[in-house]
Amino acid sequence: MSHHYIQFTDVHYAYPNGYEALRGITFRVTHGEKVALLGMNGAGKSTVLLHTNGLLLPSKGEVNVGGIPVTKKTAPGVRRAVGMLFQNPDDQLFMPTVEEDVAFGPLNMGLEMAEVQRRVREALARTGAGGLEKRSPFQLSGGQKKSVAMATILSMEPEILVMDEPTAELDLAARNKVIDIISRYTHTCLIATHDLDLACGLCPRSILIDGGKVVADGPTEEVIARLKEMI
Ligand SMILES: Nc1ncnc2c1ncn2[C@@H]1O[C@H](COP(=O)(O)OP(=O)(O)OP(=O)(O)O)[C@@H](O)[C@H]1O
Ligand SMILES: [Mg+2]
Repeated sequence: MSHHYIQFTDVHYAYPNGYEALRGITFRVTHGEKVALLGMNGAGKSTVLLHTNGLLLPSKGEVNVGGIPVTKKTAPGVRRAVGMLFQNPDDQLFMPTVEEDVAFGPLNMGLEMAEVQRRVREALARTGAGGLEKRSPFQLSGGQKKSVAMATILSMEPEILVMDEPTAELDLAARNKVIDIISRYTHTCLIATHDLDLACGLCPRSILIDGGKVVADGPTEEVIARLKEMI
């Protein structure tokens, strides 16, 4: 995938219970852009993000990642390119130990053991989760789980980073590490967040969602002003 863009075209999505969470979402995030996805609770941010790697597929419209329309068939390939941090780390972590969880992606990519170990060490150090290697992910605090979940993404060295509330529950040190990771990341980045300082500091552009529709898309400070008008 040479062009790491994300394109949503008139995306609609209804959950199995019939609730229409997305009602015609259109936007494009171009290669190398860092964009914040803002909106109140229940606006549809997580639902949008789950479409970027085919975990959810549109009821109508199209999601295209780097020139590939996301479908049931293409989703496994798209998932290798898109590193997705879930809002709830319990959805991300499933191995008996932290180091196995962080190694899972690189091992699946067929990398050699020395390279896998290097990636695991580096990812855990970068997220501040070094020292938790032998712990069970299920017995960690909420913030520790989030840091480990972030490490599972970084160890895959994805071409696109999609993050759902990356700083939620994090203490100041862990939050600083996440900010450092995002600011050093040179590829495409889409971040759903309520952390407006993070959006202002890292994302020149923001997209505001309300009721499953894009209601503003532009410079972050202007979009935040719109968000504050909604409160
Ligand atoms: N599994 C589901 N089944 C039915 N409706 C759902 C489901 N998950 C989410 N929804 C509904 O879809 C809408 C969008 O939810 P979503 O999780 O995308 O919001 P969000 O913007 O990420 O909110 P938050 O800021 O609280 O994380 C909400 O009204 C929510 O109640
Ligand atoms: Mg959400």
